[in-house]
Amino acid sequence: MSPARPRSLSVAALAVAALLAAAAPAVQAAPTAEAALAAAPDIPLANVKAHLTQLQSIATANSGNRAHGRAGYKASVDYVKAKLDAAGYTTALQQFTSGGATGYNLIADWPGGDPNKVLMAGSHLDSVTSGAGINDNGSGSAAVLETALAVSRAQLAPDKHLRFAWWGAEELGLVGSKYYVNNLATAERSKLAGYLNFDMIGSPNPGYFVYDDDPVIEQTFKDYYAGLSIPTEIETEGDGRSDHAPFKNAGVPVGGLFSGADYTKTSAQAQKWGGTAGQAFDRCYHSSCDTTANINDTALDRNSDAIAHAVWTLSAGTTTPPTGTVFSNTADVAVPDNGAAVTSPVSVTGRTGNAPSALKVAVDIKHTYRGDLVVDLLAPDGTAYRLKNSSGSDSADNVIATYTVNASSETANGTWKLQVRDVAAQDTGYIDSWGLTF
Ligand code: TRP
Ligand code: ZN
Ligand code: CA
Repeated sequence: MSPARPRSLSVAALAVAALLAAAAPAVQAAPTAEAALAAAPDIPLANVKAHLTQLQSIATANSGNRAHGRAGYKASVDYVKAKLDAAGYTTALQQFTSGGATGYNLIADWPGGDPNKVLMAGSHLDSVTSGAGINDNGSGSAAVLETALAVSRAQLAPDKHLRFAWWGAEELGLVGSKYYVNNLATAERSKLAGYLNFDMIGSPNPGYFVYDDDPVIEQTFKDYYAGLSIPTEIETEGDGRSDHAPFKNAGVPVGGLFSGADYTKTSAQAQKWGGTAGQAFDRCYHSSCDTTANINDTALDRNSDAIAHAVWTLSAGTTTPPTGTVFSNTADVAVPDNGAAVTSPVSVTGRTGNAPSALKVAVDIKHTYRGDLVVDLLAPDGTAYRLKNSSGSDSADNVIATYTVNASSETANGTWKLQVRDVAAQDTGYIDSWGLTF
């Protein structure tokens, strides 16, 4: 607080603050949409990296690569399969021939779930011949493996049947995944509720790219990143360049994550994600330096957790959250002093039609001079509803209040945002949490 602006703490202001403070914990206390489902676990980065260390050792012991038709590929398959067998998966090796050599897909089914609704997650396990292929694609393979092991640790009993896959000969033109899809009976294909693909998710100069395919899968990944306040972009580095393509071509809903290959990170991308502008996302793409040193731990960690989030969320029953559910975001967002507006997203799902005419918006902003703040609710289409104006004389701390908004002309489902702007210098604060009751 600035001494130039002494606050006058009237009895009335204190009473209002106390009242609103008493109302505020409801944001946290009421069930959130996510709490209604079993929360996905945090995937331990150390476990994912331990798999990468093993894949690196396998390459080192086998002429430096894990390529189709080479000993390093089969050894990689054996490593992953042994982990899955020990964790209670039903595993199968599917053999095919490419370029005169035998290739293998590894398929692992988690017992249970609706056999007519199958959610698949996969990654290619082969490298190119020039290197160990640790980012491409040890990263996706290790993260999918660790997610499968987390399913086993949780003894997850999802509504859908879960199937994980590690593809062979992707680098020769998606050979293994094409073989799998082509050899699925039409009836089996139609049971696939979705295929999630992870190919290069620990790039050393990472971007956060989400495939722009099935909207529900895409939104599931975007929600995860919105919760971390990390911006994502649509994957554009060659649509169809990985194992989701055969599934997509067969009409299966697909999605996935990607941290970038040989395209160059722009300065705008470096500004929002960090890293080095003017340099490739992965300078070691398809080369001998794609080793365990070629991994950004933060990207690998976040993307691994995002996979678990998607597997948990998309395999759960489509339970509509009950009326009165608070959809909330408890991630803190700093509000820059006398600066640009900031937003905090909340995604509303499972609703039909429009938002209520008396939509409750619970707001908890910590600030040392609440009069500095202009607060708006942004509907999914961007329409702004003013919750609070700035005031040079409102010197109390914090905005802890529940507002009522007539949002009946807005579609309920979608990403709503709380927008906060600090319009006067010196005092500062942050969005602590906020929520919408639908
Ligand atoms: N394994 C892919 C390849 O070598 C890597 C890749 C490039 C990729 N662009 C992509 C994967 C876009 C997913 C999406 O071609
Ligand atoms: Zn590749
Ligand atoms: Ca200020």
